[in-house]
Parts: sequence; structure tokens; C-alpha cells
Amino acid sequence: MLKDTDRIFTNLYGIHDTGLKAAMMRGAWDGTKKILQMGRDGIINEIKASGLRGRGGAGFPTGLKWSFMPRDIGERPHFLVVNADESEPGTCKDREILRNDPHILVEGCLVAGFAMGAHVAIVYIRGEFIREREAFERAVAEAYDAGLIGKNNKNGWDFDIIVHHGAGAYICGEETAMLESIEGKKGQPRMKPPFPANVGLYGAPTTVNNVESIAVGPTIIRRGAAWFDALGPERNSGTKLFCISGHVERPCNVEEEMGITFRELIDTHCGGIRGGWDNLKAVIPGGSSVRCVPADQIIDCEMSFDALMALKSGLGTAAVIVMDQSTDMVKTIARLAHFYKHESCGQCTPCREGTGWMWRILTRMSQGRAEKREIDMLLDVSKQIEGHTICALGDAAAWPVQGLITHFRHEIEAKIDAYAANPDRDGAVTEKDVLEAAQ
Ligand SMILES: Cc1cc2nc3c(=O)[nH]c(=O)nc-3n(C[C@H](O)[C@H](O)[C@H](O)COP(=O)(O)O)c2cc1C
Ligand code: SF4
Repeated sequence: MLKDTDRIFTNLYGIHDTGLKAAMMRGAWDGTKKILQMGRDGIINEIKASGLRGRGGAGFPTGLKWSFMPRDIGERPHFLVVNADESEPGTCKDREILRNDPHILVEGCLVAGFAMGAHVAIVYIRGEFIREREAFERAVAEAYDAGLIGKNNKNGWDFDIIVHHGAGAYICGEETAMLESIEGKKGQPRMKPPFPANVGLYGAPTTVNNVESIAVGPTIIRRGAAWFDALGPERNSGTKLFCISGHVERPCNVEEEMGITFRELIDTHCGGIRGGWDNLKAVIPGGSSVRCVPADQIIDCEMSFDALMALKSGLGTAAVIVMDQSTDMVKTIARLAHFYKHESCGQCTPCREGTGWMWRILTRMSQGRAEKREIDMLLDVSKQIEGHTICALGDAAAWPVQGLITHFRHEIEAKIDAYAANPDRDGAVTEKDVLEAAQ
């Protein structure tokens, strides 16, 4: 279990005061000016050495990303955009930072902004996060009043933070759709290249980072890259906020060391699986966009980018969705398919048409009203979407379906058999029908 002294988010649950004075007592804004005196390269090298990987889902090395920004500030300003859109189903960590520990994010914006030569950070907050936006705006105002940010501030780098409130579209969490949205256009992803570090917001060099990635920066630098890197397995350093939901005794958000096993995470923080470990059926370990993992493979798996990738799933946002034996896997994935169909921006044909197609066929399959040959057709369609779209929403829609077919094909088949045994039924196939058909 992570030692309390190694925690970065010391007010995750909002137990303490969220104001500036209290945040400073907990360590925020301690020696920020000295951090900036390390220079841009000094900060970027420290973040690189810490091994921090992006907390927004893809796990791209943060220091490396920062180093892609042009070295010199030319005619175009540099921008930092902080992704607080947090719409990935199951994910609920950034909102806790915004409302309970906002000052470490404000300080993180200044440090990351300076490291990339940006005098402005735009924090894009999910449309539904009203209270979170208000809490964060309060913290920004306090930081201005205290002369920590703004023109001629105490830290020696002019810096503004602009809070931009989204309107509640999942796709606006995709970094280039976010830039379009900030510019006042429809939130539709851009083709890449060019990448935002060269041509981003208003055509200027821009880096988009997740809230958690930005918030942990100052603490990493204060405590040293070696401290952060020593936590967690190689290439998967540090602490991480996990959001655990579903069939556990006590769903929660918790900061833990990367690489903790699934079993330890659940036993230590969630009071175990509802009905005991034998009742576990499957887990979606990284927010809805990754493939599910059956119980026997996940129980002793390390919760890290690489270990979950080896299971053909992913750590994603570390939103761990736990499902017990009562879960109808086909219905669950059909519900997720509806989400992706609804959120597709419609620009690419494979995503626009394929997400609707997958949802419709999965809905039929969840009722048993399908043919077994359609399972391979569904897999084929998911592969025609994966990797063939402008943005990763296409992959995100395809992977849950592929996970279902890989691990729970027998459940789809059982429903089809049950329906075939009694096609004149009134209503959908029930668990009882499936059991009867299997006898
Ligand atoms: C459809 C879609 C939605 C996304 N939503 C979010 C989001 O809500 N928050 C987030 O941080 N990243 C989200 N991302 C990932 C971002 O595009 C981007 O990779 C991330 O903000 C980079 O931050 P990081 O390097 O700090 O992880 C989303 C990606 C896609 C394809
Ligand atoms: S993959 Fe889907 S969401 Fe992404 S750009 Fe294409 S149509 Fe839009």
C-alpha cells in the first residue's frame, strides 16, 4: 500500500480546506520560483527522468511530449491546454482534483507552461462540471490575488489561466477536437500531422495534457525525479489515481502505487468483490475504451500500462470497472456500443457507420436474435474500424467489442441458442432461457 508520505493528492476527498492558505500548508506553491529557476530544459529533463507517462489514457511520456514544443518563442505564442473534459465512462478522478485539490493544478499549469514557453494555459472543463469549474475558478482567482500567477508575479514568469467550459461532448476530450472547440468551432478532431506542438490552438504551438499529468509536476520536481521513478515497476513509474466502480463492496477513488496488483487494490481499498473473489467475472481496467479482462487473468495482474497491455487491454485512465457473475456481458458491451455510436462526431465513415452497426447487432445479440455467423462479421467490422479513422474514438469503440468476442463468445452463442430454442417467445432471452437451452 502506498505510504501516506508518498501521496501527491493529500486532499483528494475534500476533507481539508481547499483554499490557498491550506493548500500551501500541505506543500503547494513551496519553492515554485526555484523550480522555474531550473530553466525550461531543467524542468523537462526532470520530468523525463521521473518516467511520468500521461494520465489521460494513452500513457505517452510527459517530458518527451513537452520537449516537442519549439525551443524558441517566435511570432506565435505557445499554449498549454489542460484537458479536464473527463468523459471516459468510469473515470472520475480529475473532477476530484478540480474541486478538492485545485491549487496543485494551478501551480502545475504554471510550471508546465513555463517549461514549454507558454504564458497562457487554457483549462477545458467538462460541460457537466459546474461545481468543479467554480471551485477551480476560485483557486485561480486566489492565485492571481496572491501574485502567484498573472503579470509580474512573484514566480517571475507572466502567466494567465483561462477557464473554458465545455458543453458535454465526449469527443471534445480528444485533443484536436478540444482545440477546435476552444476556437469556437464544432468539436471535430483534426487530421494529424501537423501535430499540435507545431500547429495547435489558433495555429500556434500547443501541448494538451490531462489534469492529473499537469497536477503531479511540481511535487515530482520538489521531491526529485528519482523518488517518483522508484515508485512502481520500470517504465510505469509513480503513483496513480484509480477510480474503482461496479461490483465491489466500496467503490472509491484512490491514489496508489503503479503496479499494485488488482487483488491488493480491491482488497485494500474497496473491501473486496461483492460476494467474494469467486464471484468476479470480468474487469474493464482502464475506462470503457479498453478490452475487458476475464477474472482469472486479472486477479493477480499488476495495474500498470505494460502489464495490462500484455493482456491486450490497457490501463487507460485507470478507471477500473468491476463486474461480478450477475453481469450480462453482451448487454454491457451493447450499452457501451450505444455510447460510442452516440458520441461519434461522424467525420469518418468507418466510425460513423460502424459504431451504429455494432450497436444494432449487439442489441440483437443481447436478446439472442442473431445468427452465430454474425459474431465473426461483428469482429470483422470492429477490425475495419480499428486503425482506420481520424481519431482514437474508432479504436475505443472497437476494442470493447473485440474483448467481448475474445473472452465471452460463449455467452453470445448461449443467448442465440436459447432464442433459437424458443423463437416465439415474448420479449428478450433471460438467464433462465439460457440455462434451459444449455441443458
Ligand atoms: C474520444 C477521446 C476522448 C478523450 N477524452 C479525454 C479526456 O476526457 N481527458 C483526457 O485527459 N484525455 C482524453 N483523451 C485523450 C486526449 O486526446 C489526449 O491524449 C490527452 O489529453 C493527453 O494528455 P496526457 O498526455 O497528459 O495523457 C481522449 C481521447 C479520445 C480519442
Ligand atoms: S473516429 Fe469517429 S469521432 Fe473520431 S474523427 Fe472519426 S468519426 Fe469523428
